[in-house]
Amino acid sequence: MDVSELKKMAAEKAVEGIQSGMAVGLGTGSTAFFVVEAVARRIREGILKDIVAVPTSVRTEEHARKVGIRLTTFESHPTLDITIDGADEVDPGLNLVKGLGGALFREKIVAAASKKFIVVADESKQVKLLGTKAPLPVEVSPFGWEVLPAKLEKLGAKPVLRKADTGKAYVTDGGNFILDCRFNGISNPAELERGLKSVVGVIETGLFIGMASEVIIAAEGGVKVLKRS
Ligand code: A5P
Repeated sequence: MDVSELKKMAAEKAVEGIQSGMAVGLGTGSTAFFVVEAVARRIREGILKDIVAVPTSVRTEEHARKVGIRLTTFESHPTLDITIDGADEVDPGLNLVKGLGGALFREKIVAAASKKFIVVADESKQVKLLGTKAPLPVEVSPFGWEVLPAKLEKLGAKPVLRKADTGKAYVTDGGNFILDCRFNGISNPAELERGLKSVVGVIETGLFIGMASEVIIAAEGGVKVLKRS
């Protein structure tokens, strides 16, 4: 089974948790893509009615509009019933690294505004320790970003400015830059989060600690649902 099939399986399972009338946060990335598709299909088939959604990126917003999902705002829906999104790493405590797709800031705002935050992933995203496979994306201010790498190095990071295909700095939907930070494993994610957030110029980090209510992992042998204990 190819990895896209696994992502689709996880997405289909997660969407079973959406009921008619819900306000839904829609994630970003190749796994969340299948969530948007599955929600739209259920709306078309009449299984889901009166769904409104808040997208976590311009990319997802465009996708949702194209497939006919009605969008809302935090002004109308300050609390979302459920958000379904992907992840780059998932540890045994259901802590996450997110943001390889560049949408971490909006993703964190949407997840934090949700009663339930469901993560969908294929088994390759499971790690014993965060920061061992993926770099940790840290969203920073474009003004003065040059002073930040040295400060992040003091916290154990090896930061690299993310570049777009043009060779220029990658710019997020919020107009910021991203420093992709390699670590030799993150032994204390909560402490690192506090450290990073205390650096002036750091806007948000891709560490999602204690936020996921459930992680749905698709593997060759089937789908497992990991719940926060
Ligand atoms: C987007 O900014 C990310 O946080 C994604 O949720 C994450 O990168 C997972 O993406 P894939 O589902 O494409 O692996």
